[in-house]
Order: sequence, then C-alpha cells, then structure tokens
Amino acid sequence: MALSTSQYSSFSSRVIIVAVAVLVVFTGTSSADPVRLYEGFYSKSCPKAFGTVKSVVQNAILKERRLGASLLRLFFHDCFVNGCDGSVLLDDTSSFTGEKTAGPNNRSLRGFEVVDKIKSAVEKECPGVVSCADILAIASRDSVVILGGPNWDVKLGRRDSRTASFSAANSGVIPPPSSTLQNLINRYRALGLSAKDLVALSGAHTIGLARCISFRDHIYNDTDIDSSFAKIRQEKCPRKTGSGDDNLAPLDLQTPTAFDNSYFKNLVKRKGLLHSDQQLYDGGSTDSLVETYSTDAEAFSCDFITAMIKMGDIKPLTGTKGEIRKNCRVIN
Ligand code: HEM
Ligand SMILES: *[C@@H]1O[C@H](CO)[C@@H](O)[C@H](O)[C@H]1NC(C)=O
Ligand SMILES: *[C@@H]1O[C@H](CO)[C@@H](O)[C@H](O)[C@H]1NC(C)=O
Repeated sequence: MALSTSQYSSFSSRVIIVAVAVLVVFTGTSSADPVRLYEGFYSKSCPKAFGTVKSVVQNAILKERRLGASLLRLFFHDCFVNGCDGSVLLDDTSSFTGEKTAGPNNRSLRGFEVVDKIKSAVEKECPGVVSCADILAIASRDSVVILGGPNWDVKLGRRDSRTASFSAANSGVIPPPSSTLQNLINRYRALGLSAKDLVALSGAHTIGLARCISFRDHIYNDTDIDSSFAKIRQEKCPRKTGSGDDNLAPLDLQTPTAFDNSYFKNLVKRKGLLHSDQQLYDGGSTDSLVETYSTDAEAFSCDFITAMIKMGDIKPLTGTKGEIRKNCRVIN
C-alpha cells in the first residue's frame, strides 16, 4: 500500500519524535551517569605510569615504612572532601586557603614530598597526562601491597581540582576520633559508603601512627579500653592538654608496619587506640563484622578492596572537568 503525502509526513514525523526521544533518553543517561573510571585509562598515554609510581613508593617505604600509611591516609582525606580530586595536595594560595591546615590535617597529614617525587618522575615520562588524584589512588594501593596487604586493580581517569576547601575539610566530613559509631555510619553513608565499608576501611589503621592529642581522651576517660593497654599508652601521652600532644603511638600495637588484620584483633581485646576505633566494637551493630575480620583475614582483604574501590569512586572529576596538574601543589 502506497502512503499518501500526509500519511507519509505524519509517519516520518513520528520516526523523528521516536528518534529524538531515544536521543534524549541516551544523553539523559550519560549526563546523569558519570564517566566511569577504568584500570586501562593510561595504557596508551602513559603505559609506564604504574611501574614509575610503584618504584618511587617502594623507595620511600624502604627509607621509612610509615610513609606507606601516610600515603594511604592522604587518599582517604582527598576522597572524603569534595571527592577524589587531588584537592588535599594543594598548597594555600592568595585566592584560597587549602585543606592542609584544616583540623584533621594540620600537623598530621604527611607524605607530600613522596607525591612530589612521584609526580616529577611521571611528568618526565608523560608530561601533562597523569593526574595527582590518580597518583594518590595508585600510591595507596602500592603502599598496601608493599606492606603485605592485598592487591587489586586501581581504577583511573580522575582529573585534578582547580581549588581546595579549608572549610569543607573542617566541616566534619572527615570524622574526628571522638566520633560515635552512629556519627561514623552517618558520615560514610552520606558518601555512599555502607557500615561494612566503614569497618573494612578502618582496617587501614593496621598501619601508621597517631598523636597523643588524637587518643588522650580515650586512654584517660573511656571505660571501653583494656586498662593495662591504657596505662602503657599513658606513659608517653600525659593527661595535661598541651603536654606531649605530638607524641606518637602505633594505631596497631601488634604489627604497626604490616598490613594485616591485627587491628581487628586489637579491637576485640579492647585495645583500639582511638575512641573512634573502639566504637566499631563496643556492643553495637558492627561488633560481629569486627569479630569476623579478626579471625578471617581473607574476608577483611576482600571487603577492604571493595571499599577502597568505592571510596576511590567518590565524585571524581572526569572528561573535561578540572585539569591535569603539572605540580600537585599548585593549579596550572
Ligand atoms: C573511620 C573514620 C576515621 C577516623 C576517625 C580516623 C582518624 C584518624 C586519626 C585521628 C589518625 C591519627 C592522626 C594524628 O594523630 O596525627 C589517623 C591516622 C591514620 N588513618 Fe585514619 N581515620 C579514619 C578512617 C581512615 C580511613 C578510611 C583510612 C584509609 C583507608 C585511614 C588511614 C589512616 C592511616 C594509614 C593513618 C596513619 C597515618 C600515618 O601514620 O601517617 N583512616 N586516622
Ligand atoms: C596549624 O598548626 C600550626 C602549628 O604547626 C599553627 O601555628 C596553626 O595555627 C595551625 N593552623 C590552623 C588553621 O589551626
Ligand atoms: C576527661 O573528662 C574530664 C571530665 O569530663 C575532663 O575534664 C577532661 O578534660 C577529660 N580528658 C582527660 C584527658 O582527662
């Protein structure tokens, strides 16, 4: 049957309407669904990036094992403040005060010189290609592996912010060590992370050190702490505010430079260093998971990897947003 002109034009306009509708649905999905990160992002543009990052991290950790912990923490503090965008690495400028001097970071975050070394090594190979945000993601994974923890594929393709926010870093998005379990759960949930992610990620406290000022109240005032452990920690952390504030103690008293599950074994024995650590095993909803991780290192590794990938997916800048910084401390 032949179509009349009017029938044909209404048929073709229907085709156009359907086509437009399909287009709207597709562009609608792609703009609501962020560009995804993936492991092979630099496989053509900087194939040696992984090896270069790893060798700088390796050398740093050989000199000082704590640096592995410090790099891992940098990634956490980057991702929790406006997403994994390298903002934590920016020095203060005349136009903005950055995140480095915010409460959770001031006199505490470290490892910036290692990031500088990684960046200049990678810039030599592939100028202007690898973001500082991705460097933190790779260096964190490498640190965990070098210190004896699990390995995983790091997703890449993040770009670097052109600003940093002192007030956001100070706003409580990075929970303080005085946090209750409910506060921790709420903070993580606000970023799309579950209570399980919270417990698994907290296992990062199986490495690294904390300052007396971060655990003083816990070792003097809390009752959910093993008393002999509290006494030992009190020896180098005086009760008086302002005295010995920067004295250090290991977050994991058993194996402070090995990435293992002993952090959870400590919690079960009420030997968590921070109030927030012990909150994960204090008669609440996360007790059973802590018990599981304390006896099942595999389960911890598996959930830690899942949670690290989820954390690394928090609000990345992708596509044409942000930039690839030449120097991680300053915008281009
Ligand atoms: C659950 C909420 C968390 C709280 C309340 C918290 C709090 C803290 C505090 C207070 C310190 C010691 C800082 C100092 O005294 O200078 C610390 C150190 C550390 N944190 Fe966390 N943290 C949390 C989650 C995480 C996560 C998710 C990671 C990584 C995945 C992480 C990795 C580390 C590492 C590795 C150190 C030791 C750093 C070093 O020795 O340089 N923390 N954390
Ligand atoms: C950061 O610490 C330094 C001491 O190292 C102190 O002078 C400064 O006031 C602190 N900054 C903020 C914003 O608290
Ligand atoms: C412990 O609690 C008391 C009473 O609330 C308070 O004065 C003190 O500052 C707290 N911290 C330490 C380390 O004693």
